[in-house]
Amino acid sequence: MDRVLSGMQASGKLHLGNLVGALQNWVKLQEQYDCYYFVADWHALTTGYANPEAIKESTRDLLLNFLAVGLDPDRCTIFIQSKIPEHAELHLLLSMITPLAWLERVPTYKEKQQELHDRDLSTYGFLGYPLLQTADIIIYRAKYVPVGIDQVPHLEISREIARRFNYLYREVFPEPEALLTAFPKVSGIDGRKMSKSYDNAIYLSDPPDIVEQKLRTMMTDPARKRRTDVGDPELSPVYHLHKIFSSEEEQQEVAHGCRTAGMGCIDCKKILIANIFKVMEPIWKRRNELIKNPEMVSAIVEKGTEKARKAARKTMQLVRDAMGLGRFLQ
Ligand code: TRP
Repeated sequence: MDRVLSGMQASGKLHLGNLVGALQNWVKLQEQYDCYYFVADWHALTTGYANPEAIKESTRDLLLNFLAVGLDPDRCTIFIQSKIPEHAELHLLLSMITPLAWLERVPTYKEKQQELHDRDLSTYGFLGYPLLQTADIIIYRAKYVPVGIDQVPHLEISREIARRFNYLYREVFPEPEALLTAFPKVSGIDGRKMSKSYDNAIYLSDPPDIVEQKLRTMMTDPARKRRTDVGDPELSPVYHLHKIFSSEEEQQEVAHGCRTAGMGCIDCKKILIANIFKVMEPIWKRRNELIKNPEMVSAIVEKGTEKARKAARKTMQLVRDAMGLGRFLQ
């Protein structure tokens, strides 16, 4: 079975956008591939080093959600990056062969620095973000990496670094390929893209009453002020969510109701709420069970970490041998 690897940075709670944009795909992939999924807590430190408590909380939220959405520990390997120091060793060794210019020209480097201008990101660790990601991927000699389009530059540099290592020493690493998760952006409750930084997200950890309240007060077509006004569904973020969570017929029904003022926004939202509840109910149920059983979650992660660590150790032996490190007696 070909190996798939992906990770999520521990810098916030998971929301519906992460569910449909990544996690549902991860769940599907575990049927076909040897999947490794992990929480990238070191990556969260590159921007969140001043607030490690938040990284701890996010790590817990991510692990609970990985399991709650249906990642099955019998079919995939779930672990935490910082429990596998081999990633750091490989990161260090790769740093020796990585030209600074390769890192400086990764577009996310300058973009993120501007976006998060309230933090000092002129650090060594932040510049090395894509290099650490490279180590995460190639240490498992993964073939495919399911990611969103925003991560493509990181995959590109991973391929370049794998190639450079193979060229300088010997063929150790396959060049990883992105498995693009093509999913439309999910609207947040204010109509902008759902994102933890906009305070407009529906979190997987939100209980039913909060989800319902967020959806009931969600923005609609701003031009439709009264119940009797006609609206344009395409201008309503509620309709965008219908396109993801509702059936064809329901989409037609609410779109028609909006255009003709035959249906009010409240009724349109009721249909959406019911459909989102259908998706979230099994997640709430499993999440609550897992919260009551923290030892079970720890055991799953420990087992996953042990398995991943074995694979990482094996690769590191090949890497040290290729670089001539540590075996001075022969
Ligand atoms: N950069 C990814 C994100 O923003 C997280 C990540 C870290 C990752 N290492 C990885 C993704 C390796 C895929 C493969 O969420």
